[in-house]
Amino acid sequence: MSSKNKFYVVTPIYYANADPHIGSTYTTLAADVLARFHRMVGDKTFFLTGTDEHGAKIAEYAKRAGKSPQEFTDELVAKFELVWDNLAITNDGFIRTTDKRHIKASQKALQHLYDKGFIYKGEYKGLYCVGCEQYKTEKDLVDGKCPDHGTEPEEMKEDCYMFKLSAFQDELLKKIEGDEFKIRPKTRKNEVLSFYKNNGLADIACSRKNIKWGIELPWDREHTAYVWMEAFLNYLTGIGWTGDPKKVPEMWPADVQLMAKDILRVHASIWPAMLLALEIPLPKKYFVHGYFLVDGQKMSKSIGNVIAPGDLVQKYGVDGTRYLLMSAATFGRDGDISWEKFNEKFNADLANGIGNLVARSITLADKMRLAGLSIPVCVERPDTEEKLKKWGGRILNKDINKNWKDYKNHMKNIEIDKALEVVMNEQKYLDGYITEHQPWVMIKEGNKDTGIIMYNILERLRHVALMLFPFMPEVSEKIITRLGLDFHEEISKNLEDNIKFGLLKSDTKAQPGDSLFPRLDTI
Ligand code: MSP
Repeated sequence: MSSKNKFYVVTPIYYANADPHIGSTYTTLAADVLARFHRMVGDKTFFLTGTDEHGAKIAEYAKRAGKSPQEFTDELVAKFELVWDNLAITNDGFIRTTDKRHIKASQKALQHLYDKGFIYKGEYKGLYCVGCEQYKTEKDLVDGKCPDHGTEPEEMKEDCYMFKLSAFQDELLKKIEGDEFKIRPKTRKNEVLSFYKNNGLADIACSRKNIKWGIELPWDREHTAYVWMEAFLNYLTGIGWTGDPKKVPEMWPADVQLMAKDILRVHASIWPAMLLALEIPLPKKYFVHGYFLVDGQKMSKSIGNVIAPGDLVQKYGVDGTRYLLMSAATFGRDGDISWEKFNEKFNADLANGIGNLVARSITLADKMRLAGLSIPVCVERPDTEEKLKKWGGRILNKDINKNWKDYKNHMKNIEIDKALEVVMNEQKYLDGYITEHQPWVMIKEGNKDTGIIMYNILERLRHVALMLFPFMPEVSEKIITRLGLDFHEEISKNLEDNIKFGLLKSDTKAQPGDSLFPRLDTI
């Protein structure tokens, strides 16, 4: 991958009607992993997330809580920001749809659509699910109820403005089919294509007369904008767009828009149609991940079976939580989660895996120093091809390049769990290497090859730490520091240069520390 590209990644903006849960945490974490990776390879990166704060649903929740919608969402937004902070999320922007700048820019964009004739006066009659903030057709329902919320949609009939969605059907179908506008995984692309072919795009109501908690249409203040229409615009207003289609921020288009399958259909129709109408380029790629199920059931704020990310952090720590969530499912497929599975994985992969590898490697290096067998005594740094050759088969650099290549490709293709697997396989490999060579015996025997073996282990551990950085930033920092290196210096180096084998100085001084992941007592 060439460096110095731009990388703009976004999450959906989450409804500010309840605390963040594992679902929104999963998407946000995935975006963070990608953003950290792209910053690490030197790309100009912007990571945007935020909150969706208008509409009937939020107004109803606020009323139930006895608060004004603004007061209500202010409190929730503070919670979102706190949770993201506690998970070491490095978003560059946080957009709220109640931000004045978002409101102004959205009004300008909607006015533009109206002036160009893409929005027209009409009447809408249909079934509406407040939980989804979407109109439903009979086909969408199961036993007359919304399958996502288990509630019967309301019959609605009102004067409204309509958006000419149908006008974009053919063009969008072509762009999706030809991958000019990529939807991944491919199964999701096919789903969208069959939706286009079987249902087609009909014009949609894009204003509400009865909903006061929303953005007023500038040409008819009796109406507020349909919440999805203005919410989509966040992806542009969140990077400073003021609503002028001719002046699009340089970070646009989004390189990756992440979301779960629940909101793919609206994202694959209304949003790109709005962009086409505004003559603004489409996002490059959507990546759609699956759902976390608990007891086989969808987790949702509206259903109420929500797991708080804070509970996970309390039990597994920040990096433990990040690891467990990112490895819980193939990215793009559904995953079934449970506390039991998390506990087992924590002990197997983190306490016995990474944690143990770091502890035994650093302790051994320290023992060597105490035994007077410090690395420089035994080892000449294998930092040139010539020296590598001289060291012959004893140097363990062979798979490193391939591992980095696989890791980078997986990250580029948003196979996040696969990239993590490369790191975990490396950890297993190193553990096996240590067991095979038994350096503690070599130290006792004063074996002259001890230095080479230990150098291999420590240098490869440096590579593991770099690969772990997007996933477990704290652990990455600890490993790098324990290898006697300056973390900030190390992480800000040009990655391509820094992933050559043999860069660890042979006089490095390992720094033993406490256990990275103390084993959980699961019984
Ligand atoms: N506000 C809209 C999105 C507007 S974007 C212009 C919305 N908000 S939401 O709060 O319901 O968030 C939906 C998103 O949260 C999903 O697409 C997904 O990213 C994440 N998840 C919510 N529940 C989830 C699971 N149970 N599992 C995985 N992700 C889920 O829709």
